[in-house]
Amino acid sequence: MHLKHLSLTNFRNFIRLETDFAAGSTILVGGNGQGKTSLLEAIHYLTGAASFHTASDRHLINFLALEEPSPFARLVAEIESQERIQRIEIRIVIESNSQSSEGRVRKEVLVNGLKRRMRELASSFTAVLFLPQDLKIIEGAPGNRRRFLDSSLAQADPTYAAALSEYQKVLTQRNALLKKSQEGRSPLDQLTFWDEQLCDLAASLIRGRALALRELDQLAAPIYSKLTRNKETLRLDYQPSFDPAPQPDGQLELPIDAALGRTGISREEIRKGMLEALERNRGDEIARGVTLQGPHRDDFRPRSNGIDLRLYGSRGQNRTAMLAMKLAEIEWLKQRTGDWPILLLDEVLAELDLERREDLLSHISSVTQSILTTADLSMFTEPFQDQATLWQIDAGTIAPRPE
Ligand SMILES: Nc1ncnc2c1ncn2[C@@H]1O[C@H](COP(=O)(O)OP(=O)(O)O)[C@@H](O)[C@H]1O
Ligand SMILES: [Mg+2]
Repeated sequence: MHLKHLSLTNFRNFIRLETDFAAGSTILVGGNGQGKTSLLEAIHYLTGAASFHTASDRHLINFLALEEPSPFARLVAEIESQERIQRIEIRIVIESNSQSSEGRVRKEVLVNGLKRRMRELASSFTAVLFLPQDLKIIEGAPGNRRRFLDSSLAQADPTYAAALSEYQKVLTQRNALLKKSQEGRSPLDQLTFWDEQLCDLAASLIRGRALALRELDQLAAPIYSKLTRNKETLRLDYQPSFDPAPQPDGQLELPIDAALGRTGISREEIRKGMLEALERNRGDEIARGVTLQGPHRDDFRPRSNGIDLRLYGSRGQNRTAMLAMKLAEIEWLKQRTGDWPILLLDEVLAELDLERREDLLSHISSVTQSILTTADLSMFTEPFQDQATLWQIDAGTIAPRPE
C-alpha cells in the first residue's frame, strides 16, 4: 500500500498542506511541537481508526479555524493498493446547534466521492502505528491489549469492526438495564433479551480475537527469537473473562487458556458458555450494576520463557516483545488483506538500543512504504538515510530537507 498524496486543511497545526509521498521510507525531521505527531495522526485517522491522541474530534480542528464561522477540518489521501488508486476524504464539521454554544461535531467520509461509514475505510487503507507509549500494550492495563487486537482486527475485517461497535452499544444498554434492576425498576425478561444479543456479538469478537492472536503468536514467536538472538521465546495466549467451554459435570475443568487454545472451539460454544456465565453471575451483576464478563473484560498474556511479561518482564524484554508483536501485526495484515500496511513510526528509535534499532530498520525496508519521524536524524544509520526521502517539518509546513 502506498500513500501517494496527502492534503490537509485546518488539521491541528496544518492550516494547509499538500504533499506527495514517495514509496519506500520517508523520514520527517523536526524539533518539538512542529507537527510530526500530528502528521502521523492525520494519516492514521484516514484508516478509519479513531485518533490515538484524543477522544474528541473537535481537538483535531485547528484552533484558529474554530474561531471562524462554520469551522471544519478536511483530510484527503490518495492511496495506491493492488494497482488501484482510491481517494479517501474525511470532513470534520462543527454544526451550530441551539442546545450548545460549542456546536455539534459531524463527520463525513467519502471514498472515491461516495459517502461511506467510518469503519468501511479499513478495507481501503491499513496502517501500523509505532508510538513511544506502545510499551503499555505489554505492561499496561488489559484495555491496552484489547485495543491492540481490536484495531488490528478492525483493519483486516470490516465485519469484525461492525460487531465491535454493535457490542459496545448493546453493552451500554445492558448496563443501563442492570442499574435499573438494581433499583428494582426493571423486569428480568428484558435482561434476558439483551443477554442473547450480547452473547451473540461477544462470540464473534472472542472467536475473532482468539484466532487472530493465535496467528499473531505464530508470527511473533520467530521474530522475538531472532531479536533476542535465540535466547528467549515469546508466547501469546488469549484469556477470556469466563471459561467459554466448561467441561461436563464430573470432569476437571481445563484452565481457560487451554480451552481456547484447543482447536475448533466454535462460535456457538463460546456463545453458550457466556450465556451460562451471565446466568451464574446474575445476582452479582445486578448488585454491581455492570456487565462483569465478556470481551470488554478479556485480556491476553504475553510470556517470555514462561514468564508473564505483564508482571515480571524487564524493560528491555518488554520493548522487544512489543516490537515483535508490531512486526507480527505487519505480516498478519499483509496475510489477511493481501497488501502491506503503511508503517508510521513516531520517534520510536530513541526508545531502542542500537541493536534493536538496526533490527527494526531492516524489517521496515521490506514493506512498500514507511513514514518515520525524528528530532534527531543521527538515530538513523547512514545507509538507511541514503535510501530514504528526507523532509524537514517546521510549524505545520514540510519541505525537502536541504543537503
Ligand atoms: N487543534 C490544534 N490547532 C492548532 N495547533 C494545534 C492543535 N492541536 C495541537 N496543536 C499544536 O500543534 C503543534 C504540533 O504538535 P505535535 O504534532 O505533537 O508536534 P511534534 O510531534 O512535532 O512535537 C503543537 O505545538 C501543538 O500545540
Ligand atoms: Mg511528537
